Amino acid sequence: MTTEKIVINGAASTYGIIGSPVSHSLSPVMHNEAFAALGMNCVYVPLPTDDLAKGVDGLKSLGFSGVSVTIPHKEEIVRYVDVLDPVAEKIGAVNTLVIGNREDPADLSIYGYNTDWVGANRALEEKIKLAGRRVLILGAGGSARAIGYGLLEAGAEIVLANRTVSKGEDLASRLGCGFVSLEQLNDVQADILVNTTSVGMIPDDDKSPVAKQLLNRFSVVMDIVYAPLETRLLREAADAGCKTISGLSMLLYQGVAQFELWTGCDAPVEVMRNVLHQRIK
Ligand code: ATR
Repeated sequence: MTTEKIVINGAASTYGIIGSPVSHSLSPVMHNEAFAALGMNCVYVPLPTDDLAKGVDGLKSLGFSGVSVTIPHKEEIVRYVDVLDPVAEKIGAVNTLVIGNREDPADLSIYGYNTDWVGANRALEEKIKLAGRRVLILGAGGSARAIGYGLLEAGAEIVLANRTVSKGEDLASRLGCGFVSLEQLNDVQADILVNTTSVGMIPDDDKSPVAKQLLNRFSVVMDIVYAPLETRLLREAADAGCKTISGLSMLLYQGVAQFELWTGCDAPVEVMRNVLHQRIK
């Protein structure tokens, strides 16, 4: 860590991550490294709590400038937000709070955003233009919901597949997209595959959510799993000639979007990418 650049003093702006648990989170190291690289008088701390109401009161009374919101609070936090970003409203989940307004010190409102979809779109757009593309999303949890809305915002057409059919159909009807069961994956033609399930994550890293013989139909395959960095899905997709995107990219770019909302500064993307790489390895 570039400790010689840190200038934390009593006037520091404070940021953090509110959730339960948060001890595994890579956000503290990513954001503190970014603040340090820019010599900013800012610090980012873990804020574990199961009691969101008291947690939000604490953030306001202690003068926090912004927080990341993680499991299990991303949906419940919406009711504590004063100004909700329209896409976060559609998604029904917030992963970023901006507390107060840099332009107006009298404004102590809590602004709520969702940068998960921003991160996914940026990670994908590095490899392929999204407008007009067809995307198969695996999974129907919170990540699928955020990514699905983001892809629709970008002008892509989506199809959803999920193990539990009722859950998959519910999300598909919310998104206004098609649904297929996992047994029907062979019938889907798409340019992009996005895995939002946890299949392939350590310790089940010998598993893949999709049979390898189905992969050569996709141009790009993205996995949101980042442990391991190269999942079995991504390894087999690369062997099948697809461009691949690891879970590190979405993690990075959702954090980059948070940093920029909080500070108004361009985030030091490579610094943040490098520290994530080191930690995930
Ligand atoms: P997140 O908030 O990250 O999206 P989640 O809400 O727990 O996490 O959703 C996890 C998704 O992974 C779900 O779609 C889940 O499928 P079910 O709806 O059938 O539970 C999917 N998933 C998890 N383990 C799976 C497995 N072994 N095989 C297939 N899908 C799996």
